[in-house]
Amino acid sequence: MKRSQWGSRLGFILASAGSAVGLGAIWKFPYMAGAQGGAAFILVYLAIAFTLGLGLMAAEMALGRAGRGGIVETFRRLGGRAWALGGLLAVIAGFLILSFYSVVGGWTLAYLVATVAGTSLTQDPGSLGARFESFVADGARVVTYHAAFMALTVLVVGAGVQKGIERLSKWLMPTLFVLMLVLIARALTLPGASAGVEYLFRPDWSSFSTSTLLEATGFVFFSLSLGMGAMITYGSYLDGRAPLASSATWVVFLAVGTALLGGLMVLPAVFAFGMDPAAGPGLSFITMPAVFAQMPAGELFATLFFLSLTVAALTSSVSLLEVVAAAVAEALGIGHRAAAWMSAAAIFAAGIPCALSFGAMSSYTVFGLTTFDLFDAISSKLLLPLGGMLVAVLAGWVAWSRVAAQLAPSGAAWLPAARLVIAVIAPLSVLVILLHGL
Ligand code: PHE
Repeated sequence: MKRSQWGSRLGFILASAGSAVGLGAIWKFPYMAGAQGGAAFILVYLAIAFTLGLGLMAAEMALGRAGRGGIVETFRRLGGRAWALGGLLAVIAGFLILSFYSVVGGWTLAYLVATVAGTSLTQDPGSLGARFESFVADGARVVTYHAAFMALTVLVVGAGVQKGIERLSKWLMPTLFVLMLVLIARALTLPGASAGVEYLFRPDWSSFSTSTLLEATGFVFFSLSLGMGAMITYGSYLDGRAPLASSATWVVFLAVGTALLGGLMVLPAVFAFGMDPAAGPGLSFITMPAVFAQMPAGELFATLFFLSLTVAALTSSVSLLEVVAAAVAEALGIGHRAAAWMSAAAIFAAGIPCALSFGAMSSYTVFGLTTFDLFDAISSKLLLPLGGMLVAVLAGWVAWSRVAAQLAPSGAAWLPAARLVIAVIAPLSVLVILLHGL
């Protein structure tokens, strides 16, 4: 069977940026920056993203184009049989991430429906908190929305690389930027918004600690979709001529830029209305609705906000499913669409205990963690860094000549620096995170 390809380099960049820009940028980044002291966290995040993150992004794309297969096949082709196990690890990571990611995707969908119906806003943040809690505990509703979000994801992935993922990203990524700019313009013109801007851009190093460093590194992996084969799988659909190093730079730039925009969209509004920037995961679902409730035309802005969250989540979830589906199709020798539906069904099932983690199954814990928290912790603290380590060793040592030939076919002055980052700095820093995480 002929291998799928992206229709254009722009399509590839937008799809990859779509994978990277997701709930990470809009939901996690503002509350993490909010909890970790704002600008100090952001500067550290930027520094790591443009060194370690950029190096691994380029390495993944190069491995993908050199291997031209699903993640397991690519690892086997480039590293030998034992490396196939590393590919399997990445598939498991994608599987676990998508099973809880889709639950949060379902929440955003539910809030979008509620804001469109005009039933989401009240003035009192206390009652918004109670509402969020009773919503996430309502098993039937969260599982239904989880199913709906998975269905959207598999419809796109099943339609194919070019007709599904690329087309979706070409429409939704520009839409997302416009929505975010509208929301930022609104947020910045609120009286009192400047305190939020200052919080984002004036570093307070007294709040800096090693945990800031570790949190920021972990977030670089998650927010750039590194360590689980997303960029390897997407890179495998790229034709031989498109320049890789600049594509990788564009994707990192777009992803980091969007996270900053996410911060600008949320934190100034939070400050303007005197809410707590360190509110945690509830920031998008509890604090932001309270902010919108106090704004003129708040319903409209709330709808735009949840629309942008849903859009961002969908362009990421399709990349997670694509990694799993491409590997399953290759392993079983079945078609891409059939593999997508099979994988989606299994991921949906695994997501059910995650969806119920805030209600019926909240007392069902392993190591004191609910299924939702367990899947999140195993994947972001263990599997993604481990995957990043494998990518670094494979690209930096085992298959460096092929990676270098992909990155700069006729050589480049920056190649030794890239190798230093990929082969030495990346494995060492990942080792530190892994040890710390355990
Ligand atoms: N980067 C996505 C986000 O920030 C999440 C993701 C992680 C997607 C790993 C694919 C692979 O929301």
